[in-house]
Amino acid sequence: MQIAHSIEDLRRLLKPAKQRAFVPTMGNLHAGHLELVKVAKQTLPDAICVASIFVNRLQFAPHEDFDSYPRTFANDCALLEAQGCDVVFAPQEKDLYPEPQVFKVHPPAELADILEGAFRPGFFVGVSTVVHKLFNCVQPDVAVFGKKDYQQLMVIQRMVHQMALPIHIVGVDTLRADDGLALSSRNGYLSSDERARAVELSATLKHMAASVLDQLSGNLASDAAKVVTQIEDEAMQSLRDKGWQPDYLVVRHQHDLSVVTQFSDAPLVVLGAARLGSTRLIDNLEI
Ligand code: PAF
Repeated sequence: MQIAHSIEDLRRLLKPAKQRAFVPTMGNLHAGHLELVKVAKQTLPDAICVASIFVNRLQFAPHEDFDSYPRTFANDCALLEAQGCDVVFAPQEKDLYPEPQVFKVHPPAELADILEGAFRPGFFVGVSTVVHKLFNCVQPDVAVFGKKDYQQLMVIQRMVHQMALPIHIVGVDTLRADDGLALSSRNGYLSSDERARAVELSATLKHMAASVLDQLSGNLASDAAKVVTQIEDEAMQSLRDKGWQPDYLVVRHQHDLSVVTQFSDAPLVVLGAARLGSTRLIDNLEI
């Protein structure tokens, strides 16, 4: 496995590559990331597999955990090498952002200012900008993202479509611990007591999904908006009662995350974000 610390190094290493499969990460890797690498290699077996490790300042608000975000580069490289990754792109900040990044990708408000975007203003501008820039550096044929960051995946898919980028985006199901907690780099912030309780978020989403399915089978089409609001409100209250501070727990359409006003054949997803102590976790479940 080779490591490129600059765009110039990366371009030199990738010059002979006929095909490139790409997994962007911020490091502090866990089994969920390694699954993305596995899928990248399966999707394009003859491609050079590239993973990037870059903690992107642009997607963190000033009060967020940019400085304390775990940087575990040596361990990340060992894991990537064992997974068969060919090239790690780990640019220095001064290489990716040699001057203030004033050209930015602004995703549409209806997709990027809701849910995560409402609670983390500017987050998807930061994500879209760095992913667009990483795409320009790597020039992948395929790029693989986890569905754990469901809204991020939607934003990237729309960006690639609207900008006519010749990249096939693959979304990969979330890997979970035995108790159901979605694997996440931020799980490491949980105390052992919080870790034991953290499953309550995915359990609540499961309960919401089951309630939606119940209502769908009851064919209460005309009451959809009311039914969904009630399921969401009850879920918020149930998590609050367990000592969480939920930001949102919602039922949305999968394809554009729009609000459900009518039950139809369009597939739905439940999404949630909530704080347990000082750790903010997100999760989702496709119905
Ligand atoms: O999902 C992540 O780890 C980040 O948002 C990404 C896509 C690597 C961009 O910094």
